[in-house]
Amino acid sequence: MPTETVYGLAADASDPHAVARVFAAKGRPAGHPLIVHIGPDACLAEWARHVPEDALRLADAFWPGPLTVILQRHPSVPLVVTGGRDTVAVRMPAHPVAQRLLASFGGGVAAPSANRFGRVSPTTAADVVADLGELVDLVVDGGPCEIGVESTIVELTQDDEALRGAPRATILRSGGVSTEDLEDVLGCRVRAMASGLARAPGMLASHYAPQTPLLLCEADEAPARVAKLASSGARVGVLSLGGIGDSDALVAWDAGGDVALLASSLYRRLREADAEGLDVLVVVPPPPQGLGVAVRDRLRRAAHR
Ligand code: TXA
Ligand code: MG
Repeated sequence: MPTETVYGLAADASDPHAVARVFAAKGRPAGHPLIVHIGPDACLAEWARHVPEDALRLADAFWPGPLTVILQRHPSVPLVVTGGRDTVAVRMPAHPVAQRLLASFGGGVAAPSANRFGRVSPTTAADVVADLGELVDLVVDGGPCEIGVESTIVELTQDDEALRGAPRATILRSGGVSTEDLEDVLGCRVRAMASGLARAPGMLASHYAPQTPLLLCEADEAPARVAKLASSGARVGVLSLGGIGDSDALVAWDAGGDVALLASSLYRRLREADAEGLDVLVVVPPPPQGLGVAVRDRLRRAAHR
């Protein structure tokens, strides 16, 4: 199903057999928990044993939208969805087709990104078909995803009483909602996990990876890097927020200084780099603000070998 972030591989969250098929189709190791998607009229208390004030505040501000909250799992949520954990990830997507689908279905839909495990997330229906093809029964085409990087994941699993000075919210994955916006709504600083490995088991050092090797560098170094690679005969592409100017690259993707455009086109560019048969894609990461944080995170993982 389409969402505003990336396409999701959807299964009835209350049906362990359906959820098991998602793991099989993706080639995803069991124990990597899935996000439960809920419709516009759904109630958080059906999914979480305890709904902290902060969760209501965030839902109010950012739902429907690219935010996932991790809460204490309601006993009715199958363990296969949460990878055996006592916490559950919940998100209310904003894409109109996802909303209609969820509203008419009535229940929760467990959906990881609709790509093979470790590969680039799909932002069009065609990407899903290319990656999962025969493994899925149906692909609902909702057009290209507007945001293009996954939701921000915020953990809020503490009881209100247990908090007393402890951090209230932790970002496990940067994404479509910026840290700055979260802090504005919560009225406090929000911690980002240095490494998502332990707490968000799907967050691996190497992820979102195209076949084409990525080379991350600063804008002022890019032209010289490209020139050197091109002179050795390599097919080189360059991807940046903008301002690289002319270079010896075979293809140059420039987002014209628009970080939202860079985010929404990021995964498409990584796929195109593969399709072009590039030997290397030189990438200049955007500054670490707003949506730039999520783009940098995905680039780091995509570049990791
Ligand atoms: O934008 C998105 O979030 C997309 C669309 C389809 O909604 N979905 C998505 O799902 O990115 P997936 O499965 O590719 O990533 C889900 C992430 C994983 O990294 C997983 O570790 C984390 O969510 N997660 C899910 N449940 C969790 C839990 N109970 N505790 C910690 N992390 C959890
Ligand atoms: Mg994914």
